[in-house]
Amino acid sequence: MFREELRKIRLVPVVVIDDAGLATPLADAIVAGGLSCVEITLRTDEALGAIYTMASRPDMLVGAGTVFTLDQAKAAVDRGARFIVSPGMSSSLVDWCLARKIPVIPGCATPTEIQMAMERGLDTVKFFPAEQLGGVKMLATLAAVFQTMHFMPTGGITAHNLIDYLALPQVVACGGSWLVGTQWLRERKFPDIRQEIGRAVELLDKNLEMTL
Ligand code: 3PG
Repeated sequence: MFREELRKIRLVPVVVIDDAGLATPLADAIVAGGLSCVEITLRTDEALGAIYTMASRPDMLVGAGTVFTLDQAKAAVDRGARFIVSPGMSSSLVDWCLARKIPVIPGCATPTEIQMAMERGLDTVKFFPAEQLGGVKMLATLAAVFQTMHFMPTGGITAHNLIDYLALPQVVACGGSWLVGTQWLRERKFPDIRQEIGRAVELLDKNLEMTL
């Protein structure tokens, strides 16, 4: 089940990439840092090419993020994306993915949106933008009401609050762009990316009993 896969992954780097030629060294840095999953956001023209390159590796689980339309979802899946993430809750996008058994994680910011996701049959949503919405406290309140729902908080998450989110039993994983800084990527600072991911993985491992 994808939810359990996410729980093992714990942390999903959210990436904005403007040169698909950097996909291989980026994947190498992510794997060397200790993670094996990535969300490539469809915010650049190069994103689909990067998905294609990374998805052909056996050591990476690659998803597409910032997916708004069915055409985008189809293009990403055609290039090997294994899961779809969107900033908001779109019933048509969710239904399209469910009909094809493609894991989909829509963004939800309110109880109404979480309820909409439940109505579609989902058990995992992205709580976005997590920090700006009230952070761990807000999510704990929502989780207490939506007891069967699971969350991947994203937005404002860093090494400083990651463990607090993962300590909530209904949080399966966190998403964050801080792990692959856009500037680092542009400047090809792969050792910095590897090091930042390594630090986060070390933090997770130290707190493993809370997150599994
Ligand atoms: C996303 O694309 O999901 C968010 O922009 C990531 O949020 P962050 O940049 O605060 O980690």
